Amino acid sequence: MKEILVLNGPNLGKLGAREHRFYGDLDYGQLCDFIKRSAEELDLAVEIRQSDDEAVLIGWLHEAMEKAIPVIFNPAAFTHYSIALRDACAMLRAPLIEVHLSNPLAREEFRHTSLISGVSTGTIAGFKEDSYRLALIAMDSLVE
Ligand code: DQA
Repeated sequence: MKEILVLNGPNLGKLGAREHRFYGDLDYGQLCDFIKRSAEELDLAVEIRQSDDEAVLIGWLHEAMEKAIPVIFNPAAFTHYSIALRDACAMLRAPLIEVHLSNPLAREEFRHTSLISGVSTGTIAGFKEDSYRLALIAMDSLVE
């Protein structure tokens, strides 16, 4: 079975309490259940992790690089300013799909820059929880 690591950045653990018009109605536990169900339908094995800590996320990206594991990554606010996360993403040896629940390009100008997009295989944004399902479908086609 294909293995995929799903990483979520800061404040995503508080989904449910965040702006529903951007992020949808699911809380974080429900989002994880949705991702697991979507993966099962595609016969993919997913491991889902969340951290508010940049260093922890970098450690997980190093682990994915060392094991050549494909990554679906919502870097949340770090998307817009973390050169360290970009550098870690640039080292990955398997596909990387950047996902966002909202469409950052339709929001405030400071969200229009992604430091991650340039080192990603592709980006899926704006479909709320479905962004993750679409990323899993794309990843299924990308990996052996
Ligand atoms: C987000 C978009 C980011 O701009 C924001 O900081 C987030 C979530 C999204 O999933 O839409 O925390 O990555």
